[in-house]
Amino acid sequence: MKKILVPPFTLLLGAFLSCSTARKEQGTKTVTAVQPPIITYEAPIKFLIITKCGPCHLSTGEEVSYDNYTSAKENIDGIIRRIKLQPQQHGFMPQKAPRLSDSLIHVFEQWKVDGLREK
Ligand code: HEC
Repeated sequence: MKKILVPPFTLLLGAFLSCSTARKEQGTKTVTAVQPPIITYEAPIKFLIITKCGPCHLSTGEEVSYDNYTSAKENIDGIIRRIKLQPQQHGFMPQKAPRLSDSLIHVFEQWKVDGLREK
């Protein structure tokens, strides 16, 4: 009889343990959400390039296109250098548009710090 009683107890214990594990995971998720997400090309770099550097730097435009991962990655130093210039300086980007906010410039720099990941 005792042998029959053991499995249900084990199941109960298992259920209890997995419950507490779930709670722990939730706790970890909350902590993760507070940390800044890793910047990748897919989010939000590509969107920024399309909205801030288009139409000139899109594959349909006339300049070097940055709307593909490889090209954006290979040109990241030039991109960062240009967007950090002041509007009156030669080579400033985005051309004929206001300077990006410091926090947007930081997003490009952080993409490099995070390892220039695609996704
Ligand atoms: C209105 C059109 C226009 C917009 C918008 C624009 N650019 Fe440009 N960009 C140009 C032109 C024209 C050149 C070529 C002349 C030069 O090098 O300054 C250029 C050149 C560049 C170069 C040098 C390319 C090379 O390798 O020779 C970089 C880097 C660059 N742009 C980055 C950017 C970034 C990043 C943005 C968006 C934040 C942006 N540009 C927005 C027109 C634009």
